[in-house]
Amino acid sequence: ESGKLWGGRFVGAVDPIMEKFNSSIAYDRHLWEVDVQGSKAYSRGLEKAGLLTKAEMDQILHGLDKVAEEWAQGTFKLSPNDEDIHTANERRLKELIGETAGKLHTGRSRNDQVVTDLRLWMRQNCSKLSTLLWELIRTMVDRAEAERDVLFPGYTHLQRAQPIRWSHWILSHAVALTRDSERLLEVQKRVNVLPLGSGAIAGNPLGVDRELLQAELNFGAITLNSMDATSERDFVAEFLFWASLCMTHLSRMAEDLILYGTKEFSFVQLSDAYSTGSSLMPQKKNPDSLELIRSKAGRVFGRCAGLLMTLKGLPSTYNKDLQEDKEAVFEVSDTMSAVLQVATGVISTLQIHRENMARALSPDMLATDLAYYLVRKGMPFRQAHEASGKAVFMAETKGVALNQLSLKELQTISPLFSGDVSHVWDYGHSVEQYAALGGTARASVDWQIGQCPPGSPAH
Ligand code: ARG
Repeated sequence: ESGKLWGGRFVGAVDPIMEKFNSSIAYDRHLWEVDVQGSKAYSRGLEKAGLLTKAEMDQILHGLDKVAEEWAQGTFKLSPNDEDIHTANERRLKELIGETAGKLHTGRSRNDQVVTDLRLWMRQNCSKLSTLLWELIRTMVDRAEAERDVLFPGYTHLQRAQPIRWSHWILSHAVALTRDSERLLEVQKRVNVLPLGSGAIAGNPLGVDRELLQAELNFGAITLNSMDATSERDFVAEFLFWASLCMTHLSRMAEDLILYGTKEFSFVQLSDAYSTGSSLMPQKKNPDSLELIRSKAGRVFGRCAGLLMTLKGLPSTYNKDLQEDKEAVFEVSDTMSAVLQVATGVISTLQIHRENMARALSPDMLATDLAYYLVRKGMPFRQAHEASGKAVFMAETKGVALNQLSLKELQTISPLFSGDVSHVWDYGHSVEQYAALGGTARASVDWQIGQCPPGSPAH
């Protein structure tokens, strides 16, 4: 007897190195709860199909509850032969209730079992991540609402571009995260499909009612094809891509804030709670929280790319390669959970320096508005762009700010300039012009805030 659940056809022992190599218990133990949940549902399915008596089912259900209790209390003892969570739980069940335990796996394979477990686990975890993401978005939107009247420079190519509302910047990141929130709901929909009852490859020959299993485990749908169900990991790939895109957004926001937090910009100051010091330079306060958010993107992308490479070119149906999916899911879930919480903390405690933001605005950033001034006087935009460019050049040549050019000087560029050009040199007036939906005017910022649904996400 090899002591293995699959030992029947084996005589030789497994090389200890192979044993360790093959084992997944070190990480798939995280699935203990959903594994018990899945097994309990399956034993109910077996009873309905007449494969277990009511008494046997009760014995199994009771035994599984004991197994779960041991895990919950930290008293579950692993044995060296437990290669994964499924074998561990079944081994323990047999110790607790005897031979009846051997009926639980009737018609089931670890192939449909593991993917059922993983879906159950991800279903729970995606809900948690969805809530965390929502809290971050809420924090950002609340800030945007409270700080609507703060203006600062907007950049393209990291060059001063146009004055914008600070809230417009916050919302630019929040709306990206709103898409991530929607995308996660889509992923959850495709996670929430039941593969149990697919067996190893061919399906279930013993009359197990999969719709009953679906109802027991509260899945939204059941998988359509047993060969596909036991081997597709689209839902894992989608989850990892969701995380990758969300990290792309968060790392960009982190990068902006790192930059805005430098002495050179001094627009924002990170709370001590999310900063660290230098062991050598006493004056340093480093934005480690933001740097780590930025860097974790790499780890998440790596897991996404890694899983896709594992899946590519696999022959049909279950192959042990698929065991590699779980570490990716666990690691990325943990990373996302931490990143989202830290990001929420950073945003909610961030201090802004309004005066520095205001001081950083410069008249050259109004050159576009100067062109629009001429457009409003009837000049075609291309000519107005040229005229405003000439004014910028004139100011530079004279060594004065753009708003310091006299009306006479401006009129040498175009006779359309008149006294009311002075209105152009007002930053508040500038941002209010951008009132089309999606722009940086107050009304448009309010509209954006109104578009972000309140409350918590549906899941
Ligand atoms: N630990 C395995 C996994 O994670 C469970 C499925 C094993 N199935 C098998 N036929 N070897 O994928």
